[in-house]
Amino acid sequence: MSIDETGQYVVEILHQRIFAAVTAITLQSVPVAAKALRNGELVAIPTETVYGLGANALDRSAVANIFAAKNRPSFDPLIIHQSSADRILAYAKEVPAEARLLAAKVWPGPLTLVLPKKKEVPDLVSAGLATVALRVPDHPLTLELLAAVDFPVAAPSANPFGFVSPTSAQHVQDQLGEKIDYILDGGACRVGLESTIVGFPGGVATVLRKGGLPVEKIEEILGHPVVVKTHSNSQPEAPGMLSQHYSPGVEMWIAEKLNVLYPYPSGSAAIIFGNEHQIMQDDRKLDVFNLSPSSDLNEAARNLFAVLREISKADYPVVIAYPVPEEGLGLAINDRLRRAAARE
Ligand code: TXA
Ligand code: MG
Repeated sequence: MSIDETGQYVVEILHQRIFAAVTAITLQSVPVAAKALRNGELVAIPTETVYGLGANALDRSAVANIFAAKNRPSFDPLIIHQSSADRILAYAKEVPAEARLLAAKVWPGPLTLVLPKKKEVPDLVSAGLATVALRVPDHPLTLELLAAVDFPVAAPSANPFGFVSPTSAQHVQDQLGEKIDYILDGGACRVGLESTIVGFPGGVATVLRKGGLPVEKIEEILGHPVVVKTHSNSQPEAPGMLSQHYSPGVEMWIAEKLNVLYPYPSGSAAIIFGNEHQIMQDDRKLDVFNLSPSSDLNEAARNLFAVLREISKADYPVVIAYPVPEEGLGLAINDRLRRAAARE
């Protein structure tokens, strides 16, 4: 960046500081974001999955600030990010052959690997676990940012704990703007669902969280079926597996069968997929949110969190969500819908 450009950013930043003292500064400058991270500040970063709330993973007080800003319980460990498989796997004590294969085929991409951690990763990052979650995200600005710093960046999704993950810079500003320093604006997230988390308990490849990388893809790469964990409240494998998460703050029902009319108070809303739903023909007043009119699961994934966010802003007595087909990204979409509707 030239001096001119730097000067321009300084003016821009001063301007924003004065006129929007309680919001985060939104920028597209990688050098400014890198400098902030080096100073121990919080920077929201774009990824292909969702926006993350980033800080230097090796700086304990910066990491503590992530937990504080999100209001996140400290038993919930963070994912650390770097710009290449070599750079991020350097924080794992052992890397099983299957982990290496997945890393080579998918990174940069929507996959997180949980592996035994090296001592230099602070216990706060891993919530005291012997493992650490590692990822190389696929977004040009963030890859450039990660390449510019000599530490891994810890980044949970940039939302208050328990709420819907952000898929745009504005979502981050709306929910966390008062609590963080900078938002690196990389546009709308291409995938829209968090990464798929794979661990190797007992040496067996296991999906700990369904996400932006379909389970079928993992099985294709490894050449065999994998174990897929479902969520539980009593003993969460990954605390993000708590049943109630992604809460839109309204009463949500899951319609387990397609093309069945459910009773609902007028003025309610429905989340649907494709164009097969009879609900469209019902004459009671109903706001319909279609995740993908053309029945495209990738598009539905991209739209899901924005729809949940919009629903949470309105005052619907009831929201009925129709699950999408249980294949590809559909597994992760249905998982998020069910958890948004969970009441415990
Ligand atoms: O796509 C993503 O994964 C985004 C972007 C920003 O990379 N990050 C994200 O982070 O979704 P977060 O903190 O919202 O979810 C991370 C999940 C949590 O459920 C956490 O419990 C789990 O990863 N996790 C982290 N470390 C773990 C570990 N050592 N063992 C098991 N689960 C772990
Ligand atoms: Mg999260």
